[in-house]
Amino acid sequence: MLTVHGLYTEYPNERGDIVKAAQDVTFTVEEGRLFTLLGPSGCGKTTTLRSIAGLERPRAGEISVNDRVVFSSSKGVFVSPNRRGFGMVFQSYAIWPHMTVFENAAFPLQVGDKKYTRAQVREHVMRVLTAVQLDELADREATKLSGGPQQQLALARALVMEPALLLLDEPLSNLDAKLRDRMRFELKRLQRELKITTVYVTHDQSEALALSHEIAVMNQGRIQQIGRPRDIYENPVNQFVADFVGNTNFLDGTVIRAEVQDRCILDTDIGRLAVKFAKPVKANDRVAISIRPEDVELAESRPAGENVWQGTVEQKVFLGEAIDFRVTVGPRSLLSRQHPTLRTPVGGSIFVRVNPEKCVVFSAS
Ligand SMILES: Nc1ncnc2c1ncn2[C@@H]1O[C@H](COP(=O)(O)OP(=O)(O)OP(=O)(O)O)[C@@H](O)[C@H]1O
Ligand SMILES: [Mg+2]
Repeated sequence: MLTVHGLYTEYPNERGDIVKAAQDVTFTVEEGRLFTLLGPSGCGKTTTLRSIAGLERPRAGEISVNDRVVFSSSKGVFVSPNRRGFGMVFQSYAIWPHMTVFENAAFPLQVGDKKYTRAQVREHVMRVLTAVQLDELADREATKLSGGPQQQLALARALVMEPALLLLDEPLSNLDAKLRDRMRFELKRLQRELKITTVYVTHDQSEALALSHEIAVMNQGRIQQIGRPRDIYENPVNQFVADFVGNTNFLDGTVIRAEVQDRCILDTDIGRLAVKFAKPVKANDRVAISIRPEDVELAESRPAGENVWQGTVEQKVFLGEAIDFRVTVGPRSLLSRQHPTLRTPVGGSIFVRVNPEKCVVFSAS
């Protein structure tokens, strides 16, 4: 188990000012789980990961793995990176040239403090090479491997020491889209199989949603929300998270009246909107509403119920398994993801319906 508490890491920039790269970063990763730091470029993901690795020295906070403190500002503890016993793979994974696949994977065992016999080395290396499905390529020259297998080899090398913690910084970003998708499945299978506690860094929200047990969404050095992928997607705590994770439609609203059972009626650009909102509100409060494209329902004949508007199809994008419709409702254009069986042509009239329960409401920032 990894715990990071109150981590604060800063850098001086070229002008001598202080960049607060990670601020009050606090999270826990349970044994065997994959935890992802997700956020836009410059939000502090790598800084957080490097701080855990011991490659940066934070100004404040505490980091421990399985109750062993590896960094604590208050207790004056700083364990050097090579003594933390973590496995790491970075974006620019370096495969050693002039070495075979086997020799690359064996290298950490040969340079470490612990001595292994030839038989032990062989056993450890073949076990990790089998896990990443490179066992049959053990004698191949490592630089002759293509991108995917090289990535697998970097992973094998990080795993061979049986690290207490695996740290991965955008390990798939050098691969082309198709290979990245495949490696994403491979990585997930391997992590689940070996049950190795992992911190994964990415700016790719679909990668984060696909791989993680839990996600921390970061912005400007701070964690905005921690949750399971589905929670983050369905119940974002603020507009930043709703916008960064997945596509969404934002509307501005003003409360007309609060009703019973967490319901309220809003005035928006597209008309009156009934929503479910747990926080107490009063008339004239300003809010923002996020509605996911798959929750914007479309129908050619008028559906029953509330939150129904008439609109016009403005644009369609065929995606194979789905169609994205842009529909104009009043002064607004809404994005709606539909099954390809809906054939309404561009310019056609269409009805839009939104379930009040699918509207995520935020107090206006
Ligand atoms: N060595 C450094 N010296 C000075 N500033 C740095 C240094 N490393 C990072 N920063 C700054 O700290 C902030 C966080 O950077 P960091 O690399 O952690 O972001 P990131 O989330 O990993 O971004 P990316 O997705 O681009 O990799 C940025 O403002 C960055 O410019
Ligand atoms: Mg980074």
